[in-house]
Amino acid sequence: MQSSNIENLAVDLDSDDQATVRLLVALDQSHLLAHWPPPGEATEKKRRMLAQARELDASYPGGLRRYLDRARELLAAARRGENPYAGNEPHVPHGRQLTFGSDEFLGAEEVGLSVANRCAFIAVAGGLGERLGFGGIKLAIRAEVATGSCFLQRYLGHVLALQRAGNARSRVNGRAPVIIMTSDGTHTGTRRLLEEHRFFGAAPGQVTLLKQGKVPALSDDRPTIATSVDDSWHIKTKPHGHGDIHALLHQSGLPRQWLNQGVRWLVFHQDTNPLTFYGVPATLGVSEQEFFDMNSVVVPRRPGEAAGGVVRLEQAGRSLTINVEYNQLDPLLRAAGHPEGDAPDASGSSPYPGNINVFVISLESYVRTLDRTGGVIPDFVNPKYADSDRSRFASPARLECMMQDYPKLLEPGARVGFTQFERGVCFSAVKNGLSEAARRQKAGLPPESAATAEADLYALNRRYLSTAGAVVETGPTRAYSGVEVELFPIVLLSQELTVSLAEFLPRVSNVRISARSTLVIDAADVVLDGLVLDGALVVRAVPGARVVIRGLVVRNRGWEVTELEEATDSSDSRAIRGYDFVRHETRLIEITEPGEHIVQT
Ligand code: UTP
Repeated sequence: MQSSNIENLAVDLDSDDQATVRLLVALDQSHLLAHWPPPGEATEKKRRMLAQARELDASYPGGLRRYLDRARELLAAARRGENPYAGNEPHVPHGRQLTFGSDEFLGAEEVGLSVANRCAFIAVAGGLGERLGFGGIKLAIRAEVATGSCFLQRYLGHVLALQRAGNARSRVNGRAPVIIMTSDGTHTGTRRLLEEHRFFGAAPGQVTLLKQGKVPALSDDRPTIATSVDDSWHIKTKPHGHGDIHALLHQSGLPRQWLNQGVRWLVFHQDTNPLTFYGVPATLGVSEQEFFDMNSVVVPRRPGEAAGGVVRLEQAGRSLTINVEYNQLDPLLRAAGHPEGDAPDASGSSPYPGNINVFVISLESYVRTLDRTGGVIPDFVNPKYADSDRSRFASPARLECMMQDYPKLLEPGARVGFTQFERGVCFSAVKNGLSEAARRQKAGLPPESAATAEADLYALNRRYLSTAGAVVETGPTRAYSGVEVELFPIVLLSQELTVSLAEFLPRVSNVRISARSTLVIDAADVVLDGLVLDGALVVRAVPGARVVIRGLVVRNRGWEVTELEEATDSSDSRAIRGYDFVRHETRLIEITEPGEHIVQT
């Protein structure tokens, strides 16, 4: 269609709309207007489509023109099958491996806690979690059934515990800012969840939501902007990835304000990993000790596993420590003269530690970096081709960006490294529905389901007890909807108690917990000085209460986990786990007054 014809189509629209029409024509996207009826008809639909195009133009740095130019360039490279890391020499990056409970772990944790009230916490929660098939937002999923807390509640609980621990150590009353990045799909749900629960105890104004925009989907590598299959008046859009967080933070102006308020570190994390915060104090400590500009929490990586590896890339005297996605790691290694590719070293793991998308960034260098770059992370494209000559897409593609690509914005010489823990100390994400989780488990891959993450949360809490000398029996492994988990003994300690392993250790002596038991402690200051538990015990106490359990024996029918017969409601957290809890009998110790309380019978 001639551009003059197109513009004639817009004579009945206002000047903003006409300018948008001219922009789309100039960008070679006049197909979006090809079905338009003559002026005066379908005016509302035309306006709506042009308003959407303007919003897309405004939300991408550099606008639609830059988006399409970049897409053209990246799609051409993808078609040629280019390796973005060609010419780089891979090396193992610099970092520290911390064993849970070791002196080095406890030392780093204590250093980290001394600055824990000078941190901001940033959760990326714009993803839709399509693989999971949960009806609501992922932050509303119950992370555990023992108390029923959802992911958002757990995150804020950890943040407040860290804040209190930091304040107690530094005698400064710091308040940790919390950012949640949302998207169109999660924004309202996240705000509602916070409001319904009075921000889960966070102070007014402590939590800020930043909503990311979407980007146009592209139906070919010219590139042509796609419209929705069932609505030619609507531009098809897709999420741009969690890398948007850096540009959004820059635009918000918050990082500079935090710097002026004395904040030192930023902790970035994802929306459905219940273990994230157990490794955070020690990671903060390592950042302090190593002066890291960026410090990624990593785990041993199984070669071939669909998780990126952190690699130090060397090229022409320049060094870049960065996550290399799993599908690029093997070709990178082979091209660099390692014919074995993505293979294990003597330890059985890949020499390149696995990225879990939890990292700590120095705020001081972050502010400088955002000022210089606007926080715009270089994007990439991952088209799924329908044919072998890569001329057609199986489904529309879009540009994406990843938050862990932040080192690409840093200046040469920046200190980028890692803190490695065992997987069970820091990582067990909820990503897959039951059948996919069962399939992955059979294939020897991490199932990453609601059930396995819950089991891993209890396992880590049991480990706090056993590291402190408690005798904790091993529970049975059971399958629910095909996913095997070891839920018992169910142990969930308060976040105040687990914020410092060093302070937790002396709280436990002469504790014995049987394989079928449940122990839930929802109290900040508890000492277990003699406890035999064979059943279920729940301890709750108001702030300011100190509970000393001394020589207590609890025997009751306890709790049972039963397979869910049928779950029809996809927004029910039980449906994605395949089981429910039956509480037959529970000993409840509930302390409602501050002060010391000794419980012996
Ligand atoms: P995931 O890889 O788990 O993807 O995102 P997802 O989109 O949530 O889930 P699927 O693929 O649809 O099943 C990793 C993290 O990045 C966030 C997610 O919320 C999660 O915390 N994310 C992802 C964003 O914040 N924005 C995005 O555009 C994409």
